[in-house]
Amino acid sequence: MEFNLLPGGTLTGEARVPGDKSISHRSIMLGALADGTTNISGFLEGEDALATVAAFRAMGVSIEGPDDGRVIVHGVGVDGLKAPQQPMDMGNSGTSIRLLSGLLAGQAFSASLTGDASLQGRPMGRVIDPLKLMGAAIEGTNDGKPPLHITGAQALRGIHYDLPMASAQVKSCVLLAGLYAQGRTSVTEPAPTRDHTERMLRGFGYKVDRDNGVIGLRGGDRLTACDIEVPADISSAAFFLVAASIAPGSDVLLTHVGINPTRIGVLNILSLMGADITLRNEREVGGEPVADIRVKYAPLRGIEIPEDQVPLAIDEFPALFIAAACAEGTTVLRGAEELRVKESDRIASMAEGLTTLGVRNEVLDDGIVIQGGTMGGGVIRTFHDHRIAMAFSIAALRAEQEIRVLDCDHVATSFPGFDALARGLGLQISALAD
Ligand code: S3P
Repeated sequence: MEFNLLPGGTLTGEARVPGDKSISHRSIMLGALADGTTNISGFLEGEDALATVAAFRAMGVSIEGPDDGRVIVHGVGVDGLKAPQQPMDMGNSGTSIRLLSGLLAGQAFSASLTGDASLQGRPMGRVIDPLKLMGAAIEGTNDGKPPLHITGAQALRGIHYDLPMASAQVKSCVLLAGLYAQGRTSVTEPAPTRDHTERMLRGFGYKVDRDNGVIGLRGGDRLTACDIEVPADISSAAFFLVAASIAPGSDVLLTHVGINPTRIGVLNILSLMGADITLRNEREVGGEPVADIRVKYAPLRGIEIPEDQVPLAIDEFPALFIAAACAEGTTVLRGAEELRVKESDRIASMAEGLTTLGVRNEVLDDGIVIQGGTMGGGVIRTFHDHRIAMAFSIAALRAEQEIRVLDCDHVATSFPGFDALARGLGLQISALAD
């Protein structure tokens, strides 16, 4: 599928973007391991979260739905998973493969995890290393890449692990293995990352402590089922936060968006750039803060992005680079080398597309410098990366000619229905089969 975008337009109206991807994955995982039945609403019916559902079904968990965002997980208890009959395919989903590696390390059975071409190119040494220190038997293929094979029935021991990179997936992997380890498992992170695993474990009645930056738990306890309402994903909302900010006359209300403090880098960065963003109706839903976000057009200015915001906005840089391209002056991003190991090398993929549109930029090892100005049009490659596709779609609002975005099938991994929702708000987008 390709997206075709006419230049210009204004975004107005109200929308609820699909459910949070990170929380959706975790709701299935912890629901499956809990005692009792977990009712989930607002679940993301995207391919990534569905890969997690399929994996737990393959391990004998009965899961009803998703049906209009509702999922019912019949928990089997921490020791109730069964051996899958074949390798489990995680598709495009880094969260599924990394979190499941931790969980599988502690099971009585062996299993293999694989994924699509993009996932097979992503580094897994970052989870293999700490799991081996815990006593797991886990091997990757070709230099620590998927497929991964995990041999079961290993006695895991709790460790303290100092995370070498700011990664919630690695942190979560170690903590989930820690559920099955003897004694205490703890981690420290170089910078705070999304804490949905810790919050949700607590919601399921599992004790997780945090003291002076050390996050820890003891193995061997049980989880108790609970109901989960998944907020709308701020990472999906980000495209419209930027879109409305750059398109003159825009005024959009995004409802029920998760505003967990470990996820709001995009709000902080856009506000520093001069965006007109206000939060309304702030409330807490199932242990996660939520708000309605109103965003109106405002002229943006280029900034040096504070490095402490990078992990808090890690998935939002494709959208933020478009904001930078429309801003007055220069935007500098550093300390963001993690962008190179996402669904694509997002520094390289975005730089190529920006150059196609005539936006001056300079690629750095760990970031990019973007010169704001005008954008032309052109044909954009997405490198099978959902967020590259959506970022260049919203760029059309300020482009001078048409933009054709190739290879947009992966948008469905995180944002099924993106084109229809965007069209409803005023983006001149059409999806064409290729
Ligand atoms: C995620 C963590 C982040 C993020 C990904 C989802 C999670 O990855 O990019 O989309 O749900 O834990 P890293 O931990 O690799 O930074």
